[in-house]
Amino acid sequence: MRTAPDLTRTAVLTGATSGIGPWIGRTAVLTGATSGIGRWIGRTAVLTGATSGIGPWIGRTAVLTGATSGIGPWIGRTAVLTGATSGIGPWIGRTAVLTGATSGIGPWIGRTAVLTGATSGIGRWIALGLAQAGLNLVIIARDPARAQATTAWIQAEIPAATIDTVIADLASIAQTTEAARQIAAAHPEIALLVNNAGLFRARRAITEEGRDRVLAVNHLAPAILMRELTPALIAAALIDGSPSRIVTVGSSTSDRARLNPNDLELTRGWTMVRAYGRSKLATMIQTFETARRLAPNSVVANVVHPGAVATSLVRTPGLIGLAWRLMRPFLRTEQQGADTPLHVALDTSFATTTGAYVKDRRPVPPNPTALDPALAARIWTLTEALTKPS
Ligand SMILES: NC(=O)c1ccc[n+]([C@@H]2O[C@H](COP(=O)([O-])OP(=O)(O)OC[C@H]3O[C@@H](n4cnc5c(N)ncnc54)[C@H](OP(=O)(O)O)[C@@H]3O)[C@@H](O)[C@H]2O)c1
Repeated sequence: MRTAPDLTRTAVLTGATSGIGPWIGRTAVLTGATSGIGRWIGRTAVLTGATSGIGPWIGRTAVLTGATSGIGPWIGRTAVLTGATSGIGPWIGRTAVLTGATSGIGPWIGRTAVLTGATSGIGRWIALGLAQAGLNLVIIARDPARAQATTAWIQAEIPAATIDTVIADLASIAQTTEAARQIAAAHPEIALLVNNAGLFRARRAITEEGRDRVLAVNHLAPAILMRELTPALIAAALIDGSPSRIVTVGSSTSDRARLNPNDLELTRGWTMVRAYGRSKLATMIQTFETARRLAPNSVVANVVHPGAVATSLVRTPGLIGLAWRLMRPFLRTEQQGADTPLHVALDTSFATTTGAYVKDRRPVPPNPTALDPALAARIWTLTEALTKPS
């Protein structure tokens, strides 16, 4: 016989004053249970894929050691990066793959180039090309405002370009020597020297130091820079493992020029064409002699002719100036004029070429006078004597 349930019995519940105890048997009223997390409270989740990948970790607690210093405190935190849509922002933390770093312009990035005559004509475009190749530039200029204008012009194109200016009048032996020494002290490794500044004058002029001005700018200044910067050029070659380069911008007027070592300053029979051609032949001889005296795996030195270029080289009034202005439309542009100098300065194909005369990117035979070693030794000694700072 079954007895009826005793509806009058009482249950004794222990632990009902703390933990979940006090809640057992009570009724909960839950608001907000139709959306958001409210809908999920008290429901049971079935999780698939919980045995591999991130599945097994969901809902578990991680204990992280080393979280109080180094990168530890940052793990799992969220960074807010401003400026990430322009400038270098979007590139932070991304990986760069650089191809072509062993040839072409790749090897020039971050190396130092010294350049003269960057404030006008061909030189401005050479400077731009060197900056585009990633070289840090040191430009020697006589006029701070023109140097600043060149810097601004290059940085408008390449905002990150590094350009230092050293002020010197290249007609002055003392100023050129001082500039070169200042540069060598600040830049113990120089990968490239471009002797580009040049002067063409209608009348003979003598500098304060008593030198023919055309010879001083076109020959003596490059000679001083080559001499004073040679240790830094050699140092860069040792560190970089590839020869440093000297590029002297010569002229085809040297092709038929004559040079009398007993009258290097052309005290007799000075004409503008003779003086200019003679100075360009002298600088070619000095550059070739520099090449001869330096190991080609250390420093290479070459001379380029940029072509006939519509620059401000001929700043002479009168008939000659007029003729030059009339010819301008038929000449190369300044940018085109920079092509061969830049090619010889940067291209891998000229990495080990030394003592060459280059036109339109190709070595060509120079004036035979430039290949006479006895004459070269003589010019070297005379030049040394003329460029001794007083
Ligand atoms: N244009 C041609 O057809 C041609 C042909 C063959 C060879 N080249 C050679 O190419 C090179 C560049 O000449 P360019 O045609 O470009 O002529 P440019 O426009 O007259 O440029 C000459 C550069 O040399 C600088 N310079 C001249 N005398 C200087 C001095 N005493 N101190 C410091 N800097 C001085 C000038 O500085 P400023 O701005 O302060 O004047 C200017 O930056 C020269 O070596 C020239 O002989 C030119």
